Amino acid sequence: MRDLFDKIYKDKGPLGKWAEFAEGYFVFPKLEGPISNRMKFRGKEVITWSINDYLGLANHPEVRKVDAEAAADYGSAYPMGARMMSGHTDLHEKLQEELASFVNKQAAYLLNFGYQGMVSTIDALVSKADVIVYDMDAHACIIDGVRLHVGQRFTYKHNDMESIEKNLERATKICEQTGGGILLISEGVFGMRGEQGKLKEIVALKEKYNFRFFVDDAHGFGTLGATGAGAGEEQGVQDEIDVYFATFAKSLASTGAFIAGDKEIMDYLKYNLRSQMFAKSLQMQLVVGALKRLDMLRTMPELKAKLWENVNALQSGLKDRGFDIGTTQSCVTPVYLKGSIPEAMALVKDLRENHGVFCSIVVYPVIPKGLILLRMIPTATHTFDDIDQTLIAFSAIRERLENGTYKRLSASVAAAANE
Ligand SMILES: Cc1ncc(COP(=O)(O)O)c(C=O)c1O
Repeated sequence: MRDLFDKIYKDKGPLGKWAEFAEGYFVFPKLEGPISNRMKFRGKEVITWSINDYLGLANHPEVRKVDAEAAADYGSAYPMGARMMSGHTDLHEKLQEELASFVNKQAAYLLNFGYQGMVSTIDALVSKADVIVYDMDAHACIIDGVRLHVGQRFTYKHNDMESIEKNLERATKICEQTGGGILLISEGVFGMRGEQGKLKEIVALKEKYNFRFFVDDAHGFGTLGATGAGAGEEQGVQDEIDVYFATFAKSLASTGAFIAGDKEIMDYLKYNLRSQMFAKSLQMQLVVGALKRLDMLRTMPELKAKLWENVNALQSGLKDRGFDIGTTQSCVTPVYLKGSIPEAMALVKDLRENHGVFCSIVVYPVIPKGLILLRMIPTATHTFDDIDQTLIAFSAIRERLENGTYKRLSASVAAAANE
């Protein structure tokens, strides 16, 4: 027998092995100053493209005012206890009602965090006889929710209708034997590549297969659809989504999340959602803050309009310069380049230090080996100057990537990592 920690001492994991070179810079960087289009990184101003503050609410004066007032009124403790026991309030109910009405559902239920809430919702919706069918590129919270499921589960190829049908057929056969039902899970917008889930096509399959449809719309909520109600609204199928999920962590620039659907289903979840039943209620500052933010989503369409003006300028600017931005259908703007992890590190360092551009870098194992993904999130706070400066920077780094500059610069990092 060996000590439990032996494996940890030997292997820090696919990303952890880079910690020595990456931590504090490429991972766990510290962005300082008010959340905005420009922040400070290691004392220098950078254009920030890595913050999901889509509508620019994080530091909006009206939002800051309400947040401060709520903190003064309630402190950070209130209410104490889980909703079911002692942490329930009128304002929690009011927020739920307003969220439900915003996303056009009968009812909603609050979650303290999107991640745990999603895990728990999946857990509550299925039992052993049921089968889950879900997208291969699903967010970690979906994967972890599925891991709790003791029955069968099938992944389908990302956004691939043939694969979805094949797996629905398999799931149907199993359910005919077990007496269970099917839960199909997709994202409204896939956060890495920015593609929308094929919600419309999936919903059309309801004519042929019997399943319930659960959509994680973390990136679609507030950014897509005529009213900002998300990917379902954008694709005209919001009514056919059986359980809708969104987090406050992106467009609403806060913490918390919610699910929405038919009242009977939400009532069931209220009594069966372990992440909420056995955890302290969402604190009041966050509830009051979310009410304010939601009101701004409803009454200030100019925020979404400005966001999309920036998204379109950035994405068309990148395309005009010949960059591969993949198949994004949302604000998420990926830029794909070819190179090794050490080259990616040298390139990002150049972007940050010499061009004042801060974006997230995604490498293997999140994406295939040999690819570098620079992931950019435009927001309503960005300016055309930010976009121009970034486009110039991108052209410069591509040239250096292609002429081997980063390969040379990164040789020492690669050698050290292979030791
Ligand atoms: C698709 C998706 N689902 C769920 C979550 C989790 O939300 P939260 O940050 O509220 O835990 C995120 C956030 O990163 C996300 O991108």
